[in-house]
Amino acid sequence: MKFNQIIRHFFFSKKSKPNFGKYSIVHPGKVSPKKQVPDNIPKPSYFRTGEPSENVMVSEIKQSGQIQSMRDSCRLAANILETVGHSIKVGQTTDDIDTLVHKLCIQYGAYPSPLNYKNFPKSVCTSVNNVTCHGIPDDRPLEDGDIVNVDITVFYKGYHGDCSKTFLVGNVDEEGKWLVEATEVCLEEGINVCRPGAYFRDIGYAIEQKASELSYTVVPAFLGHGIGSYFHGPPEIYHIRNVYPGKMLPGMTFTIEPILTQGKEEIEILEDNWTAVTVDGARTAQFEHTVLITNDGVEILTLPH
Ligand code: MF3
Ligand code: CO
Ligand code: CO
Repeated sequence: MKFNQIIRHFFFSKKSKPNFGKYSIVHPGKVSPKKQVPDNIPKPSYFRTGEPSENVMVSEIKQSGQIQSMRDSCRLAANILETVGHSIKVGQTTDDIDTLVHKLCIQYGAYPSPLNYKNFPKSVCTSVNNVTCHGIPDDRPLEDGDIVNVDITVFYKGYHGDCSKTFLVGNVDEEGKWLVEATEVCLEEGINVCRPGAYFRDIGYAIEQKASELSYTVVPAFLGHGIGSYFHGPPEIYHIRNVYPGKMLPGMTFTIEPILTQGKEEIEILEDNWTAVTVDGARTAQFEHTVLITNDGVEILTLPH
């Protein structure tokens, strides 16, 4: 009896899911048809072909007119994210979230950036529990205890604004709540090192340091990115220790979007070519802001107001 219990303990707490808490493993469901965007809404370069035409080589320094447009598009993304956050409840499908995001974008005259970006089939990314990022909205109803990241990017006034948050659905276990809270703290740590003259790589050091203090692992596979009239461009923002060159200068805009896992850092991409999941089934959480480097510090552009 005693021996058996030791074996059980070994198998269940060390080998399978070691204290990851109580949650459902998520598998992709059925995806509804691609939505249309009215003719009068300005479109990004890839909306027909799926391939962005911009080839940005250096970290762009934006002038005041561009900065104002970035402020407007980022504010819209943040406001839509806030509205969607209030709507989230048990039983709602991620496809319902997509429908709401798509409707709000069009209502405000914006194009939902994910739609047909490198052939992504929906208007928003929704990533539940063990889905790390780039989850495709589908017919799976949200369950009590899920955590769901909603990643909203809008193309508005010629510029993309990009942000995400991880929301708690109903009653989430302690392990899930800590993971979500730790991830938001790590994003703040990353933002706090931003100022003119700082290295882009300082962000990754700060985030990895804080994550390890909080006993979590950063998923290294996904990076923040420069953003503007293009969705993704230089600089690359690593969320772990790195040797990426270059310093922040006033007028640069980029995202910081760390993903933390309860388990191991390995991820795999499913057959839909988008959905990233943890190999060990651990939950992950992610938060994202678009920021602007100012003359004396940093401005978070994706705050709702
Ligand atoms: N919003 C994501 C990011 O933070 C990118 C999603 S690409 C998509 O960079 F095609 F999946 F939308
Ligand atoms: Co995003
Ligand atoms: Co992003």
